Amino acid sequence: MALYAIGDTHLALGTPDKSMEVFGAGWENYVDRLREGFSPVDDSDTVILCGDLSWGMDLEGAREDFAFLDSLPGEKWIVKGNHDYWWNTAAKMNAFFAANGFAKLHILHNNCAFYGETALCGTRGWFFEENGTPHWEKIFNRELIRLEASLKAAGEAEKLCFLHYPPLYKGYRCGEIIALLERYGVKTCCYGHLHGPSHRLAVEGEQNGVDYQLVSADFVGFRPKKIMD
Ligand SMILES: [Fe+2]
Ligand SMILES: [Fe+2]
Repeated sequence: MALYAIGDTHLALGTPDKSMEVFGAGWENYVDRLREGFSPVDDSDTVILCGDLSWGMDLEGAREDFAFLDSLPGEKWIVKGNHDYWWNTAAKMNAFFAANGFAKLHILHNNCAFYGETALCGTRGWFFEENGTPHWEKIFNRELIRLEASLKAAGEAEKLCFLHYPPLYKGYRCGEIIALLERYGVKTCCYGHLHGPSHRLAVEGEQNGVDYQLVSADFVGFRPKKIMD
C-alpha cells in the first residue's frame, strides 16, 4: 500500500486536436508513458491527481480520458485544475462516474480523504496570474474557504495537502495559502501546473515545516511520485 501523486495529465483522448504532443519531445507519446508510469502502482494504492486532467469541455467530452484514468491501477482522488473545464458539481461528477462505472475515481473538493490515519486535503489553489481577473478577490476568498474546509474536515489527523497551483514559486508566495498550510500543520504539499521551461521556477523542499513537491506529469516523467508508504 502506497500513496502517490501526479498532476497535469492533460489527456485529450476524446479531443485529439488538443493533444499535448504538439509541445514537442517533453510530451511525446505521453499517454503510453503515463500507462507505463503507473506500472509500479497497484489497486491497493492511492493516487492523488492534482488537476488539469482532461481537455474535455464537459463531462461527456472528458469521458474517454476518465475511462483511461479509471483503467489505471489505484484509487484516484481528483483535485481541480485551471484547465478542467468539464468540472461540475460534486453530485453531478459522482453521478457521471457511477453511471459510467468509473469506480476508482473520486472527487477531492471541500472534503478530505483518508489514507490510513493520514488525511489527504486539497483544492485548486491560487496563482498570481489570476490577480486582476474579474472578481478575483471573491474567487480567491472562496479558494481559501475551500482549503480551510478541507483542512478542518481532517480534524486532528496528520495532514497532507494537494493543490493544483503552486502556493509558492521563485519570486512569488501566496501568503494566505501558505499561512493556512502552516497553521494546520500540513507536512507535505504537492502541486502541479508548472510545465516545460517553468519547471526551473519551482520551489521544492521544506519551508517552515511544510515539504513542497512539484508533481506535474512532465516534471515527474509521467510516473506518479511516491509520497508515502
Ligand atoms: Fe497543466
Ligand atoms: Fe494548470
